Amino acid sequence: MATGSRYAGKVVIVTGGGRGIGEQIVRAFVESGAQVVICDKMESGGRALEQELPRTVFILSDVTREEDMKTLVSETIRRFGRLDCVVNNAGRHLPPQWPEETSGEEFRSLLEVNLLGPYTLTKLALPYLRKTQGNIVNIASLVGAIAQTQAITYVATKGALAAMTKGLALDESQYGVRVNCISPGNIWTKMWQELAAASPDPKTAIQEGILNQPLGRMGNPAEVAAAAVFLATEATFCTGCELFVTGGAELGYGIKAKRGAPVEAPDTLPDCPHFQSGSSD
Ligand SMILES: NC(=O)c1ccc[n+]([C@@H]2O[C@H](COP(=O)([O-])OP(=O)(O)OC[C@H]3O[C@@H](n4cnc5c(N)ncnc54)[C@H](O)[C@@H]3O)[C@@H](O)[C@H]2O)c1
Repeated sequence: MATGSRYAGKVVIVTGGGRGIGEQIVRAFVESGAQVVICDKMESGGRALEQELPRTVFILSDVTREEDMKTLVSETIRRFGRLDCVVNNAGRHLPPQWPEETSGEEFRSLLEVNLLGPYTLTKLALPYLRKTQGNIVNIASLVGAIAQTQAITYVATKGALAAMTKGLALDESQYGVRVNCISPGNIWTKMWQELAAASPDPKTAIQEGILNQPLGRMGNPAEVAAAAVFLATEATFCTGCELFVTGGAELGYGIKAKRGAPVEAPDTLPDCPHFQSGSSD
């Protein structure tokens, strides 16, 4: 493997680093010359990476457990003496749910992973990041900005993570700590595959997921990882940024009124079934 020197001598924690986007972020930081501490609540992926890659250590840990996050940070400092970057990547997406199907209990558990996890690790890491004028990269989501149907809880957690990024960037600027986030669009990972498999028509769900992008494909996790390394290394005048890595999914108009929802059409509109107000077929 080619080893670079872009981030040589730096120490990075990546949460959810055992698979998907997190795994590629681990690989990209290793290629940039950094030492990487992998956090994941699942043993298999992180342990395999630790064995495969140089300059990696896996610590079995769950971002929703404060004790685990304390150990993650204290072990990082004990072993490597410094911390330069935290990538808050661990996250979950629930299967599609209409608002009335959601529960407060599920919402709270999603908040624990997607928002309070990054908050807890950030708080514990800040004293060390201030010493190195380090930085934080949060993995939010495009849907935190543009929303997604049947996902109000996920949308809310990711929107809040992007907002927290900006607030933290303001507060930490006085210490020289930069805080940015990446909002990926559709990235082909196990998370995407599992959500598609749980949908009534997986093949159509995947086809629509591909067509959401003007670029005509889903992103791959390495493309998000490249953005994370860029924010940590060269993006020295970026703080409070939300970087969209989406293949342009947020651009342009699309058909968004639900079929059967009341719509208003100009009188001159040619006959079109979509505009038969109240129709649900
Ligand atoms: N895949 C996409 O299309 C997409 C789009 C936008 C945002 N995201 C976000 O990117 C991040 C990574 O997504 P992915 O597609 O790679 O997901 P993934 O499910 O493939 O991988 C997530 C990893 O995080 C770990 N993890 C989950 N909960 C954890 C916890 N409590 N503590 C520690 N580790 C935990 C999992 O074990 C897994 O290894 C998530 O935050 C996700 O919301 C993904």
